[in-house]
Amino acid sequence: MLTFAKKTVIEAGQILKKYFNTPLDIKTKSTERDLVTQADIESEKFIIAAIQTQYPDHAILAEEHGQIGDSEYLWLIDPIDGTTNFAHSHPMFCSVIALAYRDEMILTAIYDPLRKELFSAEKGNGAFLNDHAIMVASNSTLVSSILATGFPYDRATNPKNNINEFCKIMPLVQGIRRSGSAALDMCYVACGRLDGYWEFHLNPWDFAGGGLLVREAHGKISNSDGSDWSIVSNNVIAANNELHQEMLQALNDL
Ligand code: IPD
Ligand code: CA
Ligand code: CA
Repeated sequence: MLTFAKKTVIEAGQILKKYFNTPLDIKTKSTERDLVTQADIESEKFIIAAIQTQYPDHAILAEEHGQIGDSEYLWLIDPIDGTTNFAHSHPMFCSVIALAYRDEMILTAIYDPLRKELFSAEKGNGAFLNDHAIMVASNSTLVSSILATGFPYDRATNPKNNINEFCKIMPLVQGIRRSGSAALDMCYVACGRLDGYWEFHLNPWDFAGGGLLVREAHGKISNSDGSDWSIVSNNVIAANNELHQEMLQALNDL
């Protein structure tokens, strides 16, 4: 199934490359800054069709199509993570395919087609970037760290919009990046390009695959209050073990 996910996510990446930096048909969803393009739709339809052909009994939870079917196996799909970037020809986005069995993540394949970077993980078998094993960074203090975060689409009206947390953490660290792709943020934590990442108000397709990747790269992942993270969580702190503790304290000591 991992081989299938890797092949399919790379093929979806070719769809993204075909549309990237071309005039797009852009529509809005939940708010005027929550976008969808024909590339999201075509990539998602392609991935759904591939899963339904290969694993017709499995269920799917896809960002643009919602839940399809019911099964102990649930495929999570984000056809473009980083749609706002994509719509602005900003080169930071990926496609995500992940699989849960009985609500536990068992594999993921996340592909950045512009950099030809394939991140993958299978429960218990480690995390990989283009088939080379990866590990989280070892920076254990906020002051020596570079973190990433993101802000929800309803940030104009949502009081828990992460602005207070951002202001609290910014003076404590070497830098904070806002890439616009939660999945790539987690991939970058898994391979040590970022030391840690936190975000609120995510959906399972944004970060379930990345969560498994961070775990398999020997990182720690929890909900923002420190409780156990799962695929039904909607917020996350991800880092190495020591830094995770510092982030948890700082984020909850506002
Ligand atoms: C978004 C990105 C972004 C995060 C948002 C997500 P989308 O996903 O991952 O970094 O801050 O919360 O919704 O809409 O580009 O698939
Ligand atoms: Ca997403
Ligand atoms: Ca998306």
